[in-house]
Amino acid sequence: MSEQPVPAWMAGHLAPVPDEISAVDLRVTGALPAELTGRYLRNGPNPRPGETSPHWFTGHGMLHGLRLRGGRAEWYRNRWVRTRVFTEDAPFIREDLTFDRAAVPANTHVVPHAGKILALVEIGFPYEVTPELDTVGPCDFGGRLTGAMTAHPKEDPVTGELLFFGYGFAPPYLTYHRLSSTGELVESREIEVPGPTMMHDFAITARHVVWMDLPVVFDGDLVMNGAGIPYRWDDGYGARLGVMPRSGGPVRWFEVDPCYVFHVGNAYEDEEGRIVLDGARYDADSFQGIWGDIGRTTEHDTAHAASVHWKSVMHRWTLDPATGKAVEEQLDDRNVEFPTHDDTRTGHGHRYLYTVADEAIVKYDLRTGASRALELGDGDAPGEAVFVPAADRGAEDEGWLLSIVSDRSGGGSELLVLNAADLSHQATVHLPRRVPAGFHGSWIPDGEVSP
Ligand SMILES: [Fe+2]
Repeated sequence: MSEQPVPAWMAGHLAPVPDEISAVDLRVTGALPAELTGRYLRNGPNPRPGETSPHWFTGHGMLHGLRLRGGRAEWYRNRWVRTRVFTEDAPFIREDLTFDRAAVPANTHVVPHAGKILALVEIGFPYEVTPELDTVGPCDFGGRLTGAMTAHPKEDPVTGELLFFGYGFAPPYLTYHRLSSTGELVESREIEVPGPTMMHDFAITARHVVWMDLPVVFDGDLVMNGAGIPYRWDDGYGARLGVMPRSGGPVRWFEVDPCYVFHVGNAYEDEEGRIVLDGARYDADSFQGIWGDIGRTTEHDTAHAASVHWKSVMHRWTLDPATGKAVEEQLDDRNVEFPTHDDTRTGHGHRYLYTVADEAIVKYDLRTGASRALELGDGDAPGEAVFVPAADRGAEDEGWLLSIVSDRSGGGSELLVLNAADLSHQATVHLPRRVPAGFHGSWIPDGEVSP
């Protein structure tokens, strides 16, 4: 019997864990700030023992949670999201060829909104979970959501609305949605785009939504070939960013050099009315390189034991309505991913962005153009760094960064708490088990959801 190669997403710091555990009174080095009272939740794919997912992005969602209170780390627990795929092995495409939007892995992000906690994946409905990580069930907002919901909705810090979208490989290719601050789906609007692309993220400003219509397209042949995610780079598709009033209305498209952006840092409108968008940009080669490492793309591409290394670089696009032109500027030459910012500035001008490199946490000061990095130990892979503002802050970067750091060789994990201002060490929470490097998470202060 020939030995199957171990795919990159089943090995080392990405390898799944076999079970669910709970632990209390975690060991802390340094001093956890007492005002960090709440929960840090993080999502990621975690196939069950004996399973190998066909793509890193398709494994069952597993939430990892830490409860911090008054300077203590009270508990850690991890739980699979009980989706219809997890509990019943329900197929996403039913026999009548309709989609079961609850038969999805819910593995990409976890966000609070209007008193609920939602686990998200971009091909289906969100799943509501409790603050203790038990699954409540799929959420279609009282039957009003009939398609997919992105894993990257944007909560407006002023209005409290949650803006989001869904994309699909069959029409409508793109649909814009608006949830009220109380969690009611008040608007769903089809947006015209040239074709079915993989649209992982988008951006908002105070008055606009920014669409990223980029050349990673749906390819039906890849479905027939058993690819985990049937999308591929297409040199012929072109690339454009679209600016649309948040209330709907025509989209104004700006041509840009072909690229792919999984993740936006933030966007805003400057004093001249230009739209400024920061994101982690892949060129054609870097996209195709990482896309090959994290999934099977054709039946001839067997999964292999490559490591996954970030290959995107932070860029800024400035879209000028007066000229109709986009100006693109590279902010740095370091390979980074998972840009984050102070969420109270979403859609508004930000000075700082935070990103992660393979073994470093990197902070950008967009006012001065400077960046600084905290280099971690050899083999220490940081997850997305979530910014938590200090209660009585003066400066935008007064607060902390939370990042789960996982050992590349499959050793232990810890929650690293840094002072965001200078990336100095504040505290380390030693986790009772290895946490596979995953995707996105949120800090949920007490009071934001009912305990
Ligand atoms: Fe993402």
